[in-house]
Amino acid sequence: MTSPTALICETQAWKDLKGHVEDINKTHLRDLMSDAHRCESMMLEFEGLLLDYSRQRATVETMDKLLNLAKAAQLSEKISRMFNGEHINSTENRSVLHVALRAPKYAVIKADGKNVVPEVWNVLDKIEDFSEKIRSGSWVGATGKPLKDVIAIGIGGSFLGPLFVHTALQTDPEAAECAKGRQLRFLANIDPVDVARNISGLNPETTLVVVVSKTFTTAETMLNARTLRNWITTALGAPAVAKHMVAVSTNLALVEKFGIDPNNAFAFWDWVGGRYSVCSAVGVLPLSLQYGFSVVEKFLKGASSIDKHFQSTPFEKNIPVLLGLLSVWNVSFLGYPARAILPYSQALEKFAPHIQQVSMESNGKGVSIDGLPLPFETGEIDFGEPGTNGQHSFYQLIHQGRVIPCDFIGTVKSQQPVYLEGEVVSNHDELMSNFFAQPDALAYGKTPEQLQKENVSENLIPHKTFSGNRPSLSLLLPELSAYNVGQLLAIYEHRVAVQGFVWGINSFDQWGVELGKVLATQVRKQLHSSRTQGAAPEGFNYSTTTLLKRYLETSPEPKM
Ligand code: F6P
Repeated sequence: MTSPTALICETQAWKDLKGHVEDINKTHLRDLMSDAHRCESMMLEFEGLLLDYSRQRATVETMDKLLNLAKAAQLSEKISRMFNGEHINSTENRSVLHVALRAPKYAVIKADGKNVVPEVWNVLDKIEDFSEKIRSGSWVGATGKPLKDVIAIGIGGSFLGPLFVHTALQTDPEAAECAKGRQLRFLANIDPVDVARNISGLNPETTLVVVVSKTFTTAETMLNARTLRNWITTALGAPAVAKHMVAVSTNLALVEKFGIDPNNAFAFWDWVGGRYSVCSAVGVLPLSLQYGFSVVEKFLKGASSIDKHFQSTPFEKNIPVLLGLLSVWNVSFLGYPARAILPYSQALEKFAPHIQQVSMESNGKGVSIDGLPLPFETGEIDFGEPGTNGQHSFYQLIHQGRVIPCDFIGTVKSQQPVYLEGEVVSNHDELMSNFFAQPDALAYGKTPEQLQKENVSENLIPHKTFSGNRPSLSLLLPELSAYNVGQLLAIYEHRVAVQGFVWGINSFDQWGVELGKVLATQVRKQLHSSRTQGAAPEGFNYSTTTLLKRYLETSPEPKM
C-alpha cells in the first residue's frame, strides 16, 4: 500500500514491471499472437462492444503485474472515492462527479453529503422543455420566426465534446431524421474568421445563440458572445437578446450580468470538469436543440452503462481499467510517448480532438497529487484521424518509423451503408477490411526472409522490411448509435482517470493553462494602449518587442 507521499514508482509492483520489460523485449507479437489462449484471454465483451487487446506487447503475466500495480496504487479505493463525491480534485478542493450527469433519476450520488441527481434532472427536464419549445416553434424569435439555426459559442471542454457528439450523430439515421431542417454550428476560436464562418448564410431572425462557459470568464468565449450579441441586436434591437441568446454555465451571476435572463440559463456545477462536461447542459442543450432530447438521452444512457461497468466489474474484466493500465504500461514501461486514436468511422472524426483535451489536459502533469516532482513521464501525446484517411497520411511513420501504440475503433454496422452492384464488397466492408488488416500489419510486420522469398531486390529489402511488434488494440462497436457514442466517451473518460490514479497525479485540475493567458493579458493591454495612444511596446523581451513592433507598424487593424 502507498502512504500518501510515496510515489508509485517506489512500489514493488512498479519495480516488478520495470524488470518485466526485459522479458517482453525478448518476445515479438508475431509469436505472442500465435498463442490462441493468450489472445482469447485478451478479448472481452460488454453489451456487444468487443475489446481486443491481444496485440498489446503484453503476456498474461504482464496483465497480472499490471493488476498488482493497480492494487499498489489503491485504484479500487480511488474509483470509489470519485463515485462517493470525495474532493479528489484536491488542488481545487472539488468532487469529480461527471458520472452524476448521466445517472438515472432514481440514483443517489452525493457531493458534500447532498444527493446531486435531483438537480441534475431538474436541468435535464428544463432542457427537454426548452428544446421542445424551440423545435416545435412555440418559442419564436423577435420577429416571430422559428429559430431553426443554433450557434453554440464555447471553447475547450465547452466545445470539443459537443462537437464530437454532434459530428457522430449527424449521419445516424434516427438522429438525422430528428435534425431535418435544423443547423447546429460551433463558434470556438477568437479568430474573427470563425465568426465569419459561423454567421455566413445565417439570418439573426432565425438564429439562437447558446453561450457555453463553465466560468463565464473565458476571454475568447466572452468576446465571441459580445460579437454575436452585437450581430443580433444590430439586426433586431437590444430586446431581441431575450429571445435569441441563452447560456450554459456554473456562474449564473455573470450570465445575468452579461444580459441573459437567468431563466434562459442552464446550470451545471463545479464538480464537473470542463473537459468532462459534455453530458451536462454544455452538450445536452445544443444537441437536444438539434436532435431532440430523446436522442440525447440515449447518449447519456450509453455513458451511464459504462459508469456501472467501470464501478462494478472486477478489474480483469473491466474495460476502462484494462485500457488505462495498458496505457500506463506503454508510456511508463515501454516508453512510448504518443497514442494514435484511429476511428474507422468518418462520423468519429472529432473524437480524437476531444480525447486530446480529456487526456492531455488531465494527465499532462509534472508533479504528484501531493506536489512531489515526478521522476517518470505521465500522459500521452494523443492524436488521430479517421481511417482510412490516416493510412494515406501518417501511417508510414507508424509502420516503419517510431513506435506509436494505436487504438483502432470500428463498427459492425455502417450508419449510411452503400453497396454498388457488382463490387467485390460494400463500401463499409472495404473500410473495415483495413480496420482488421492494419493491426496485424503493425503486429506481424514483414521480415527480410519473407521479402527474399518474394524475390524483392536486395537493395530494396531494408526499405520494405517492417519490424512489426507494434502494439495496438481494437474496439469493435455493434454500430454508432447515440447509445454507443455515449459508451465510447465514458470508456475513454474513465481510462484517462485510471491512468491518473495509477500515476498518483491530479487528473482533474489544469493550472498549466493559466500562465499563457496571463501573458496574453499583458499583450492585450499593450495592443490597446498602442492603438489608442500610439504607445510603443514596453516591458517585453527583445524578441517579443520586435514582433509586436512589426505587427503594429504593418497591421491594418482599426485605430481605436
Ligand atoms: O483554458 C482551459 C480551459 O479552462 C479548459 O479546461 C476549459 O474546458 C476551457 O478552458 C473553457 O473554459 P470555460 O468553459 O470556463 O469557458
